[in-house]
Amino acid sequence: MRVGILTSGGDCQALNATMRALAKTLYANVKDLEIIGFKNGYKGLMYEDYIKMKPTDFSGIIAQGGTILGSSRCPFKMMRVVEDGFDKVKAMKRTYKKLNLDALAVLGGNGSLKTANLLAQEGLNVIGLPKTIDNDTYGTDYTFGFSSAVEVATRYLDEIHTTAASHNRVFIVEVMGHKVGHITLAAGLATGCEIILLPEIPYDLKNIEKKIKQRKAQGKNFTVIACSEGALTKEEATFSKKKYKALVAAREGRSVVEYIAKDLANDMPELEIRTSVIGHAQRGGAPDAYDRMISTRFGIEGARLIMNRSFGQLVVLKQGEVGSIPIEDTAGKLKYVDPAGKPVMNAKLMGVCFGD
Ligand code: F6P
Repeated sequence: MRVGILTSGGDCQALNATMRALAKTLYANVKDLEIIGFKNGYKGLMYEDYIKMKPTDFSGIIAQGGTILGSSRCPFKMMRVVEDGFDKVKAMKRTYKKLNLDALAVLGGNGSLKTANLLAQEGLNVIGLPKTIDNDTYGTDYTFGFSSAVEVATRYLDEIHTTAASHNRVFIVEVMGHKVGHITLAAGLATGCEIILLPEIPYDLKNIEKKIKQRKAQGKNFTVIACSEGALTKEEATFSKKKYKALVAAREGRSVVEYIAKDLANDMPELEIRTSVIGHAQRGGAPDAYDRMISTRFGIEGARLIMNRSFGQLVVLKQGEVGSIPIEDTAGKLKYVDPAGKPVMNAKLMGVCFGD
């Protein structure tokens, strides 16, 4: 049996741990197994850039961050593009056939799973493993990388708290998560932030100001705001997709926290405000224990799917159980924080302000 593996999209912790479990399970159960590792995501499949893996390649990597195969962003929209007569989908199918693969395991987030779905529809034997710090893949309660990213964000927010308190400052800290607020909500709650801004709950600046004043009245002269990179105002939430895209483009990569800081300073000039962006450290370093454990379970399930020839499936976690769903059920959809769900509603009960 010949199995291809690739890691696609933004990296995260536990990519190596997942591949290790998948490979070890296959090696233990499949005779004459050959694993082909494609380099730098779908690019490796497109341009026949691969390594013939050995069992030892998967040893000693459970705690290693990043990906031993490399990764790249390869947006779904690009897939149909034919550049200089080079059809990318055709090229990937050609490599798959040329290498005589029996299966392809894709470790990827939402964009990469869309592509995996496309390849499955084109007749390739694909399985998916849900990777992303954002935890926004629809159909699974968990994507590996999330817990480790929350750890990094938590440590960062803890550190900001001490300096914010010493200087009686307001800090607005940008947390990753793309269009969803799972990391911000988890790390915000874990560090006792009393203001948490999520894309799913558009904010009104007045409510943030009210909360800062309330804290001051309680003798708390500092505030740390956990702010999702995709946070937006109530007004911005009414914008059409096109208008919102234009707004983000006009910011030329400057963080949303800068804009909130500017508006806040305008209304409350008495505040000493600082901003801070955690950034890509959230995806870096060693996976935490939970990610190592869950990605091991995911990898084993991925191998089981391949051995049972259950293709077109995505490994998922549902209510504590590892299983699988058709990749097409997740492709193109996001899993958002539920603004009316218990984590948010209970936090509100305790007095956390979401700006709504
Ligand atoms: O999807 C993971 C993620 O880290 C998001 O949280 C973030 O919006 C994005 O990737 C950053 O992407 P890039 O690595 O291309 O800067």
